[in-house]
Amino acid sequence: MPIAKIAPSMLSSDFANLASEADRMMQCGADWLHMDIMEWMGRHFVPNLTIGAPVIQSLRKHSKAYLDCHLMVTNPLDYVEPIGKAGASGFTFHVEASKDNWQELVQQIKSRGMKPGVALKPGTPVEEVYPLLDGENPVELVLVMTVEPGFGGQKFMPETMEKVRDLRKKYPSLDIEVDGGLGPLTIDAAASAGANCIVAGSSVFGAPEPAQVISLMRKSVEV
Ligand code: DX5
Ligand code: ZN
Repeated sequence: MPIAKIAPSMLSSDFANLASEADRMMQCGADWLHMDIMEWMGRHFVPNLTIGAPVIQSLRKHSKAYLDCHLMVTNPLDYVEPIGKAGASGFTFHVEASKDNWQELVQQIKSRGMKPGVALKPGTPVEEVYPLLDGENPVELVLVMTVEPGFGGQKFMPETMEKVRDLRKKYPSLDIEVDGGLGPLTIDAAASAGANCIVAGSSVFGAPEPAQVISLMRKSVEV
């Protein structure tokens, strides 16, 4: 299994103090910072509106951290250039929003020096991402949503672990990320299914000692 990456979700941070929140998380042992880019646009993709390229760009000026960007938008291709220029490290788009143009998306993401990833909602079958992994220009990460995308603080859906197990069996060295409801009570289910990239918002930011939660999750993945 590839090495553990613990990625606090900045959606649970104090956005008014984003730079210091990012530094605090890195000092607490985070590997990546997970940035949730959501676009409401008539409720097309998720019923929420969060941050965009200007915020990524501002944070990049203050931090060298790996910015793991999760695009919950209707038209991810429109975001590759601005998010890439802003300084994102990873660009993960949703398979549900890229049915017709994922080849072009992956190619453009890579040409901008970002790591391409594909995400799937809880109700989307895992088979839908296989073509993106088996072709000539594969994605390098699969994000299995463990809650319905849109908000932090929701309850982990254990039934999504079947997808993680199927992916790990088929792709032993793939980065498999889980996102939603992860924390000390759910990390073992995700780690034993084969997830190695762990996004956690409320469990980390809500803890009196975030470093302890990060270290506990890392140990669970690295067993
Ligand atoms: C939800 C986002 C998540 C969210 C996770 O759509 O993709 O990254 O911030 O938050 P928690 O860990 O609180 O479920
Ligand atoms: Zn996310």
